[in-house]
Amino acid sequence: MAILITGGAGFIGSHTCIELLNEGYEIIVVDNFSNSKPESLKRVCEITGKSIMIYYLDLLDSESLEKVFLVNQIEAVIHFAGLKAVGESVKESLKYYKNNITTTIIICDLMQKYSVKKLVFSSSATVYGLPDTVPISEEFPLKALNPYGRTKLMVEEFLQDIFISDNEWSITILRYFNPIGAHESGLIGEDPSGTPNNLMPYITKVAVGQLKVLNIFGNGYSTKDGTGVRDYIHVVDLANGHVAALDKTLKSTGVNIYNLGTGIGYSVLEVVSAFESATGVKIPINITHPRPGDAAICYADPMKAEKELNWIAKKSIHDMCADSWRWQSRNPNGYKINEELENPRLIQSEDFLIPNN
Ligand code: WQD
Repeated sequence: MAILITGGAGFIGSHTCIELLNEGYEIIVVDNFSNSKPESLKRVCEITGKSIMIYYLDLLDSESLEKVFLVNQIEAVIHFAGLKAVGESVKESLKYYKNNITTTIIICDLMQKYSVKKLVFSSSATVYGLPDTVPISEEFPLKALNPYGRTKLMVEEFLQDIFISDNEWSITILRYFNPIGAHESGLIGEDPSGTPNNLMPYITKVAVGQLKVLNIFGNGYSTKDGTGVRDYIHVVDLANGHVAALDKTLKSTGVNIYNLGTGIGYSVLEVVSAFESATGVKIPINITHPRPGDAAICYADPMKAEKELNWIAKKSIHDMCADSWRWQSRNPNGYKINEELENPRLIQSEDFLIPNN
């Protein structure tokens, strides 16, 4: 029996593949590589010495996706695939609703048809909007402030309705805080296309000399040093949170929701200084205006996950900075391999194991 992982070539997906393979799971990845590279999965196999069945397809192509359910014995699904840039979601909201909601309906429909009713869903702390207080627990009011966040919230709501209609389902919803860092090998990591929106990939691009200066979005917040505070969690801790969540999902029924964070908030300036001390690389900064929609402070109360999943984030902000830097310094162009830099080409479907059926 295999675990089907949608978006398994992505930043969090690829790290979760490693932890699942190390735990002895058989995994199948479905990815359209719209925001990731097949190279990440080749390196997952290199790191673990294990193989992965990869289907290069778009989840909106329900006919092809159904073949994956037909030819494989699937025990559960971990659904990472989706678009996740807040700013882009404002400009292209329909694309976000189509990609984040329609695909999840297609997946759940096929899961129901093939009696695969175990699902781990990748949600986000963005569903809490601008919290009045911190730390944030799962009972906090939900208020998504952008189309991206609304897609996550809408999916969370219809997943709960699916369980009400059919209580054989076991659904675990994971609300991520701020995933950063990389696998200790330096072989896989965060590889955003274009100029990074998020803090850590922006810092590592400055450190590697591809960007000149880190613009800090405002220093007038009522925080320790005026800059925004977030709950940064190492992507490997987050990946292990998925392994713990899958274990519980396989053994139970019902809908369970967990914050995956460290419970510790760091300001932007604290992250910069942690990066400089962990790597010895100086990061030039420039204070600019606040980014519209940004919360001043956002960090988790991770107690529920610690108790019910027997999971806790173990890695420090130093580990997150050192591991991020190892990945970026060894892969200044991310997964773009040399020939791709010279003559970029579309990945051909024959590049992947596509079973004849
Ligand atoms: C962190 C802090 C910025 C960049 C976003 C999404 C959220 C989730 C995680 C998907 C903030 C500051 C950032 C920069 C800066 N993604 N910053 N200069 O906004 O907390 O969360 O990513 O689920 O949905 O909203 O993360 O890394 O963008 O910002 O000063 O160039 O760094 O103001 O205080 P954020 P972030």
